Amino acid sequence: MNNEIITVRVNASTSYDVTIGRGILQYVGKYIADLGNIDKVAIVTDDLVDALYSDTVEKSLRECGLKTVKSVFKNGEKSKTLSTVGKITDDLAKAELTRSDLVLALGGGVVGDMAGFAAGIYMRGIRYAQVPTTLLAIIDSSVGGKTGVNLRTGKNLAGLFNQPELVFADTDTLKTLPEEQMLNGIGEGIKYAVLDGGELFDIMEAGLDDGNTVRFAELCVSYKRDVVEADERESGIRRLLNLGHTVGHAIEKLSRYTVSHGFAVASGLKVISEACVRRGLLDAGECARITALLDKYGLGADAGYPVSALIREMPHDKKRVGAKISLVIVNAIGKCAYISVETARLKEFFS
Ligand SMILES: NC(=O)c1ccc[n+]([C@@H]2O[C@H](COP(=O)([O-])OP(=O)(O)OC[C@H]3O[C@@H](n4cnc5c(N)ncnc54)[C@H](O)[C@@H]3O)[C@@H](O)[C@H]2O)c1
Repeated sequence: MNNEIITVRVNASTSYDVTIGRGILQYVGKYIADLGNIDKVAIVTDDLVDALYSDTVEKSLRECGLKTVKSVFKNGEKSKTLSTVGKITDDLAKAELTRSDLVLALGGGVVGDMAGFAAGIYMRGIRYAQVPTTLLAIIDSSVGGKTGVNLRTGKNLAGLFNQPELVFADTDTLKTLPEEQMLNGIGEGIKYAVLDGGELFDIMEAGLDDGNTVRFAELCVSYKRDVVEADERESGIRRLLNLGHTVGHAIEKLSRYTVSHGFAVASGLKVISEACVRRGLLDAGECARITALLDKYGLGADAGYPVSALIREMPHDKKRVGAKISLVIVNAIGKCAYISVETARLKEFFS
């Protein structure tokens, strides 16, 4: 192995390791085999990732004495449906997977969310592991156990909390990731930088490169780990991870999902930070550092929707409780909080 491998231990309802390194994909078989008592591994992936990485993963699993089968679906958010989960579970049944076998999600957040969901419902739950291959999935979606699919009525409306047994990330897989997808992950990365401040913000300001991506991922995952351990099912502090998301979700919805998630979150982060300055909650200089960071990556652009349109969409957000909506505010870089705002007062908050 050519570089250091780091491990972040997550102690949620179940405990598991998040292993991150460069050039480690070929060793995934050993890590899976070490989980113990596995006969067969079902690799669930999309067609693009399949062409790039399935061979390496299959070879590594087989070298460690594991049998492999594969379930492949078409890449992209449009596939994130109950019908694709139906196909995956059918594939698992055809391959005669049992409860002691394991589903391995190989790909981005779409693959991870669906494979985790399929593993959670097939035979009332079989084992699964995540091998994330997008920046967004490495730093965010593969950790924390949220799995699910979109319904026609909205995003991520059906799913399960289901923690994996292992997350295994090779940051070298990001070398094949298109620039647009990289930026999508950077949008979420800046969210973590604002939440955590310190070294994470410094790395983002300096710029991601081969040398610091593992450390960057470690810091994002460690932050998420702390939050998930304190509040696995999002009844409190886990809401902080929605920084930028309330406005972001409104932007995604208004654009009919042509603006991708990380870009929408970045724009949402800018809108909320500026609103915090106007409300006297955030110092203008700190806000300028956040917007400069977004600018550095070409993120945080005004999505072109008036505040009135954004506000109209916000009450449809999943995080609404009765007539109130939970908003994550920025008090300083590294110091965020969530507040409850009556939907009738959103206009006042954002004006
Ligand atoms: N579960 C969670 O906690 C959580 C958190 C945030 C986001 N999400 C979900 O994650 C999804 C978005 O994830 P995503 O941005 O990873 O999207 P994605 O899985 O659709 O991947 C984006 C594209 O990149 C391709 N790709 C993946 N890895 C590649 C690689 N290494 N090289 C080349 N191409 C590659 C994929 O085939 C796809 O076309 C959304 O559905 C969102 O709801 C979940």
